[in-house]
Amino acid sequence: MASLDERVAEAHAAYRAARPLSAAADGRARAVLPGGNTRSVLDFAPFPFRVVGAKGAELVDLDGHRYVDFCGNYTAGLLGHSPDGVRSAIVAALDGGWALGATHEREVELAELLCDRFASIEQVRFTNSGTEANLMAIGTALHATGRSGVVVFERGYHGGVLSFGPVADGPHHQLNVPHDFRVGVFDDVDALDGLIDETVGGVLVEAVQGSGGCRPASVEFLRALRAHCDRVGAVLVFDEVMTSRLAPGGAQERFDVTPDMTTLGKYLGGGMTFGAFGGRRDLMATFDPAVGGSLTQAGTFNNNVVSMSAAVHTLRHELTEERIVEVNERGDRLRRGLAAVLDGSPFRVTGLGSMLCLHADDDRLLELLFHALLADGLYVARRGFMALSIEITDDHADVLIDAVRRWIDGLDPTG
Ligand SMILES: Cc1ncc(COP(=O)(O)O)c(C=O)c1O
Repeated sequence: MASLDERVAEAHAAYRAARPLSAAADGRARAVLPGGNTRSVLDFAPFPFRVVGAKGAELVDLDGHRYVDFCGNYTAGLLGHSPDGVRSAIVAALDGGWALGATHEREVELAELLCDRFASIEQVRFTNSGTEANLMAIGTALHATGRSGVVVFERGYHGGVLSFGPVADGPHHQLNVPHDFRVGVFDDVDALDGLIDETVGGVLVEAVQGSGGCRPASVEFLRALRAHCDRVGAVLVFDEVMTSRLAPGGAQERFDVTPDMTTLGKYLGGGMTFGAFGGRRDLMATFDPAVGGSLTQAGTFNNNVVSMSAAVHTLRHELTEERIVEVNERGDRLRRGLAAVLDGSPFRVTGLGSMLCLHADDDRLLELLFHALLADGLYVARRGFMALSIEITDDHADVLIDAVRRWIDGLDPTG
C-alpha cells in the first residue's frame, strides 16, 4: 500500500491530468496574481479549477467538469448560483441609474427589512463586506464605552484583518488591525471571569464559529457573555455574517440570546458585495448628528444600488422563513448521515444546521477525501467546510453521504 504522501501525490497527478485548461489558466494567473488568486481560501493543491459557469447547485469548470457545490461560497451562496430573481431585481434597479453619489429608497427598504428580521437591530448601516461591518461595530462599541479592550475568541474569524486562531500570534497577526484584543477560550464559561472586566468595551463572538471549524457555542456560554457584558457595561456584538442563516432571525433567535449589536454580510446581498452593522438605537445614534452623534461612516459604495436591490429581493422573495428552516433541517440531516458513515474512522463532522465541517486526524487524509469528492463531482471546501444552499436537495446530500461511505470503506488510514 502506498504511503499517505504518495497517495496525495497520485491524487494531485490525476486531478492535473483531467484539467489541462485549468492548469494552463493557473500558470497564466500566477504571473500576475500572487499564488494565482485574489482570495487565498480559494486556493488548493495542485491548483484550483477555474469556473466558467454557475447555475443552481452546480459549478462548471474550464475543462467541462461539473460539480455539485457544497461549499456554497463559504455561506455567501445560500441562494444557490445565479438565481434569475436576483438578476431581474438588479437589472430593474439599474434603470434608475447606479453609482449615484446620493441617497435612494432601496437602502431604506433594506434597512426596514433587516430591522424587522433581527431582534437586536433597531437601526443599521451598510458596508461593503463583513470585515468592514465588524471593524465598524468594534469602533462603535469602543466609542460608546470610552474603553480600549476588545474580547474575541481563539479560532474566531471576523475578516482578514480580524483573525484569531488557532495560533493567535502566528504570522497572520501582522495583518490584524492593532486593537487591544484579549483572546479568550471559545465556549469556556469559567474562563470569562478574568477576561471580561471594566476595561473591555466590546465582545465580538460568533455563536457558531464558521472558519474556526463549525464549532457551535453552548447556550450557556452565550448567556454568560450576555451577563458579563451587562455586569461591566461592555457592548456584546454577535458576528452573524455567517450564522444569520441558521434561523429566520439569525443565531440570536435560534439561541435566544440578544446581543447589543449584530454584524451581517455574505448571502444577504444575494451574492453581491455586502455588509451591515446594526443594533441598539442608542449605540447607533452615534452616527446621527441630529441627536448629538459625533461619528461619521465613510464608504463610497455603502449604498450601492446593485447590492441594495439584490438584498431587498433576497429578503422579500428568496429567503422565506420556510426556506431557511428547510435548508437548516437538511443540513442537520446531512450531518447525521455523515456522522454515521464516519463513525469509527479518522474523520468527524461538526456544525449546526446548514453549516458543516469535516475534520480529519491527519490533514493529508482530508486532502485525499477532498480530491476523491472532486473526482466524483462534489465540491466541498478544501478545509472540509460546507454551507448548503437552498438548491441542494436531499438527493444531492445522499450522493455526498454515499461517496464518503464508499471512499471510507476503501481507506487504509495507516497508509
Ligand atoms: C464570521 C465572519 N465574519 C466576517 C467575515 C468577513 O466577511 P467578508 O469576507 O465579507 O469581509 C467572515 C468571512 O468569512 C466570516 O465568516
